[in-house]
Amino acid sequence: MSVVPAPLDNNSCDTAIRASFLHFIADPDQRGDACEYFEDGLMILKQGRIQMLVDAAEWIDYLPDGCALYDYSGRLVMPGFIDTHCHYPQTEIIASYGMQLLDWLQQYTFPTEEKFAERDHADKIAAFFCDQMLANGTTSSAVFATVHPQSVDAIFEQAQQRGLCLIAGKVMMDRNAPPQLCDSAESSYRDCSELIQRWHLKGRAYYAVTPRFAPCSSPAQLEVCGQLLDENPDLYLQSHVAENRAEVDWVARLFPHSRSYLDVYDGYGLLGPRSIYGHCIHLDQEDRERMAASGAAMAFCPTSNLFLGSGLFSLEDATELNIRVGIATDVGAGTSFSMLQTLAEAYKVCQLAGQQLTPLKAFYLATLGAAESLYLDHRIGNFALGKEADFVVLDLAPTELMQCRMDNASTLEERLFALMMLGDDRCIQATHIMGRRQYSRAI
Ligand code: GUN
Ligand code: ZN
Repeated sequence: MSVVPAPLDNNSCDTAIRASFLHFIADPDQRGDACEYFEDGLMILKQGRIQMLVDAAEWIDYLPDGCALYDYSGRLVMPGFIDTHCHYPQTEIIASYGMQLLDWLQQYTFPTEEKFAERDHADKIAAFFCDQMLANGTTSSAVFATVHPQSVDAIFEQAQQRGLCLIAGKVMMDRNAPPQLCDSAESSYRDCSELIQRWHLKGRAYYAVTPRFAPCSSPAQLEVCGQLLDENPDLYLQSHVAENRAEVDWVARLFPHSRSYLDVYDGYGLLGPRSIYGHCIHLDQEDRERMAASGAAMAFCPTSNLFLGSGLFSLEDATELNIRVGIATDVGAGTSFSMLQTLAEAYKVCQLAGQQLTPLKAFYLATLGAAESLYLDHRIGNFALGKEADFVVLDLAPTELMQCRMDNASTLEERLFALMMLGDDRCIQATHIMGRRQYSRAI
């Protein structure tokens, strides 16, 4: 039975969007009715926040004069994608040939990160990176800067100009890296404290304490990380763990008294809610139980893990233990800014591991699941009342091949699967941040 619509007025509505809508209210692995779909829906916004999501036919005649209407009929609108782990300074070295993690860092990553001593370079790459996010429908990201504090200012400023929601931090490393890229325990404490004051909780900005990974931080610096977390409420922590076998062996030699790689971080108080760990491939059962109990998140980086030959992430183990998981591009070891391409590679990683990734679970991991993993689901991740209206407008058939495949798809799930396997930035018709259109694809 449908409700008789009350007239809307300008107090409850300044913007409306007509389209097909899909969003998640739970993990599809946990609940059968985890998603909501409107074939012809109307989303009503007030000051960039969701007021309601309803059937268009019932409500379209009641929009007040002066309410802006975006008519995306025939397109699919989903919550903006959320990238839980990436490196903006590595944009220029994406797709660099032929190496696994530790050699790749030496050969490509460190040299390109040295360029961020120049503020102009940082501004240029940060602007380009944020534009790539928008062109791929990504509206929130957890981002590594470089060791240079000004590289953090650059990315927060560019994100702020576009309204993006961003978690970011200065990379901390005081050993096993070129001297130009090394800070010290003391200087990193001072730099991070200043950056936290300047950026943390300002609008849509969140600061993350960002030790690159255990091999590049001395015990004294890891202690500083714990101290920063103790001193500042609601900070994030982001790092890498158990990505590559040679890396894991190196950590065992550097920290002989720790039970495991993850245990190194745990020993310094770096494992808890709002801790985000990239990769999490070579973990054991005890590590996984510790991740689950701590409330920390795993960032699943499929294109990167395949590209660097790092190994296969076990989504099944994470799901069984109820560990928070978000999907991540890990640009520039990751090979695409496209969340659709990233989901395609996630599906293939699961196939190689003898596991499943349904299309619904995949899009959950890129939206609400990622928001939950980052403890941001009170603000973003779906179209629930009061949330910030970040969304992506998807064209499911921008190419002849996709049109041919969509013509032969009979269910929503089939279309979603074809979208993630065949889609890329050509599918992103528009990206909206808090209701406002920030990107529109030129045709
Ligand atoms: N481990 C330490 N630093 C990095 C990095 O920049 N990228 C990846 N993929 N792994 C890392
Ligand atoms: Zn990374």
